Amino acid sequence: MKVTAYHILDNLSGGLYENSGNCLTELVRNSAVASMINNVWEPKRVRIEISLVPNHPLVGRGENALVIFDRGCGLTEPAIERYFSWLGTPISHLNGASERNGASQKGIGRLAALALNKKCLEGDIAERIKHGYYLFSRTAKNGDVRFVTVIPERVETQGGIETDRFISPTSTEMGPLKNLAGSFTMIVIPTPVFGSHNEIYDALKWYLPREEDKMYELQVGGKLVRPPPLQEHLNISSVNGEYRARLGVGTTESDGVWLCDNETGLRVASCGQLGRLLPAPLWYPDLVGDIFAPKLLRHQNTARSTLAREFTKKGNREWQRLLMFLISEVVAPAKKLIEKDVIQGNAAKTLDELVDMFKDRFGPPEEVRDVGPPPPPPPKDRPVKPTIPTVPPTKDLAKDKEKKDKVHRHVSIRVGEETYHLYRGQTLYRYVFAQVSPSNKSVIYVNVRGGYESLPNTQAERREHCLMQILTAIGGSKFRSDPYQAALFANEVRAQILQKK
Ligand SMILES: Nc1ncnc2c1ncn2[C@@H]1O[C@H](COP(=O)(O)OP(=O)(O)OP(=O)(O)O)[C@@H](O)[C@H]1O
Ligand SMILES: [Mg+2]
Repeated sequence: MKVTAYHILDNLSGGLYENSGNCLTELVRNSAVASMINNVWEPKRVRIEISLVPNHPLVGRGENALVIFDRGCGLTEPAIERYFSWLGTPISHLNGASERNGASQKGIGRLAALALNKKCLEGDIAERIKHGYYLFSRTAKNGDVRFVTVIPERVETQGGIETDRFISPTSTEMGPLKNLAGSFTMIVIPTPVFGSHNEIYDALKWYLPREEDKMYELQVGGKLVRPPPLQEHLNISSVNGEYRARLGVGTTESDGVWLCDNETGLRVASCGQLGRLLPAPLWYPDLVGDIFAPKLLRHQNTARSTLAREFTKKGNREWQRLLMFLISEVVAPAKKLIEKDVIQGNAAKTLDELVDMFKDRFGPPEEVRDVGPPPPPPPKDRPVKPTIPTVPPTKDLAKDKEKKDKVHRHVSIRVGEETYHLYRGQTLYRYVFAQVSPSNKSVIYVNVRGGYESLPNTQAERREHCLMQILTAIGGSKFRSDPYQAALFANEVRAQILQKK
């Protein structure tokens, strides 16, 4: 089986990740791993420098090169084999010892470098595959430097990449790092997607280890950088300290709450994306912050934004333990924190009426997923507190719950076979009433905090207007590329709801 240039460039590089910050993070992660000799996260050993170098000898005049430089072990013989001969992790390397807490795992992260070169992203594929990046590396303290040009087209047409070319440390290709001493690896990317050091920091900042003691020495443009500070409103830890929550209230731009890896401090999964697997309010967009739990990193998905499905299965004790911490320690104070400000007014009232109309037509929404019985506590843990009820509530309880829901930030409805969660805590643009969450199609933000300016004057008009806004948002998300089907869907559901029984 051979690998094609197209596959490398479009499927195994940028196509896997959400943004250029994710791509750069892959290289930074590799640099960090190469700087830690044992299979433990030892950030103190790591020194990484990222910079935009103007007029670098390997790029055109007046252009910048993006340079990612680490003083790690360099590309050792086994690493050369992994880097240039394998896509994915070969069986012989598949032992837990080499995975570094999950920070090196899939054997494809290095290709993200291609997606940081604009010329690999823009224009015709036949042209894009001709561009790539340069790698310099040395494992010894001094002497010649391995110099490799990585270009997807060469992998396909020349049956591989020339890896055994060495240059003197005084060669011009070394740019500003001429005469450097010690082992190192340096990636040089021409025509980078980033225009400034600030842009680089902004793209990278949320992917840095979140806690101070896990952070390594990282310079961007010659300046030492740190991750954005942790939230301070809620600071909750489990007795053994392995589970920690640091939460606050922010805006959608703060990107909600993330589950982070306890050992490395890296963000692993966005709670917004995990959605219904987690209890509310953890997936609410204006609850922001970080929750640390053990052994998450090795279960991160390839796009670095959520957890692999096997991990969140009911039978997985690690996942159940995390849920227990969340349910028994975090959910109640987080709810209190987030439900402080009011949701009221005509738009909120209309929404309540619509929720009843949906219920009359399609029945009650699906119960929130039963998280199953708690796992036995680990020996050192405190006794487990009772979990949320796993039996369906009786009728009266259901009524009580419904009353409570009125003040909750989300309320669920059923539309046909599907359940949607209307999220009331988000202020949207003043002329938008309903908008599907970009990270979770079953969550619809509704603008009921007083900021919606197209609300009609009479109750009947409001009902009709808001119903269509919600259905249009759902239709638009279900049939993204087909406005006709989207409108048809909205009008059909409207007809079903208004139909006399
Ligand atoms: N900066 C570096 N210094 C030394 N070795 C490196 C460096 N970057 C990559 N490598 C070597 O190349 C290998 C392949 O890197 P790549 O990022 O593609 O895969 P990985 O880190 O093993 O897994 P993942 O896809 O999860 O990142 C690494 O396992 C490591 O041995
Ligand atoms: Mg990697």
